Amino acid sequence: MPLADCRIIELPKIHDPHGNLTFVQNDDTLPFTMQRVYYVYDVPGGAERGGHAHKNLHQFIVAMSGSFDITLDDGKDKKTFHLARSYYGLYVCPMIWREIDNFSSGSVLMCLASEKYSEADYHRSYDDFMRARWANA
Ligand code: TYD
Repeated sequence: MPLADCRIIELPKIHDPHGNLTFVQNDDTLPFTMQRVYYVYDVPGGAERGGHAHKNLHQFIVAMSGSFDITLDDGKDKKTFHLARSYYGLYVCPMIWREIDNFSSGSVLMCLASEKYSEADYHRSYDDFMRARWANA
């Protein structure tokens, strides 16, 4: 899928003087049905994550706390998104290479994913990703 399909999605926000509330629910908010949640935290300064693409997985990534940058690459175009608030996130479609860096101290990345974890769904080599990308182009 092309990079243009990846986009920031704003989530519903319930304002309250006692604190705001945001929710995500299936059949409503995201262009896929979620089956898994994972989060990344305690990221040391200067660390980079990602460095892979998924063959079939759809993901929605939110900065639950702090901020970080996600650079997406579909093998042709690249785009960097800065995630910094918990009421929006980045939809990442399948076959997109991603690099995540510039984590602020104490940041928490949450990802909602369309499938359970499967190592077979990863392209962990950029060359393999590019070969598969152009084979399917
Ligand atoms: P990985 O997806 O490479 O992390 P990141 O993209 O944030 O750098 O996953 C890191 C490790 O965690 C890898 O060994 C696979 C494992 N893992 C699971 O066991 N289950 C999961 O749901 C995820 C996302 C990763």
